[in-house]
Amino acid sequence: MISKKLETAINDQINAELYSAYLYLSMAAYFESKNLSGFAGWMRAQAQEEQAHAMKFFDYLNERGGRVNLKDIKASQSEWESPLDVFKNVYSHEQKVSSLINDLVNMAIKENDHATNNFLQWYVAEQVEEEASADEVVNKLELVGDSGNALFMLDRELGQRTFTAALESEE
Ligand code: FEO
Repeated sequence: MISKKLETAINDQINAELYSAYLYLSMAAYFESKNLSGFAGWMRAQAQEEQAHAMKFFDYLNERGGRVNLKDIKASQSEWESPLDVFKNVYSHEQKVSSLINDLVNMAIKENDHATNNFLQWYVAEQVEEEASADEVVNKLELVGDSGNALFMLDRELGQRTFTAALESEE
């Protein structure tokens, strides 16, 4: 059975993952309003991924005899200055999430909860990818600069992304 302290911390993380989904959905809405449907599609896939991250914690907490408590999800920002501004925001948000995951790992280690530590390692690896993919788009957008043509090409490229629920097989 999981400790009360970790139960509370995981419930907070479920809320953080759901907020991430909300943030990316808001970014999708921003891109839709700018007629950048490829960027919007990328954000929708990202939002689905965050929902899946939340559900993985949800299932784990139940499995360990904990109780899931869903709290209010705070409202997301809805306006940004530019696509580059959005992706810089994604990158810094993912860095914040990585530090939340690291805090959870530290807590699990301190409590000698090897099962939770082991479970959290999936997220540790996932955050490396999350940061890298956001950083990659930031770099591309910096190269694009003011070129409408290049932005159009990047919109098409990002629109290729689809969400695949690969989480189950990795458990
Ligand atoms: Fe669930 Fe983007 O971290």
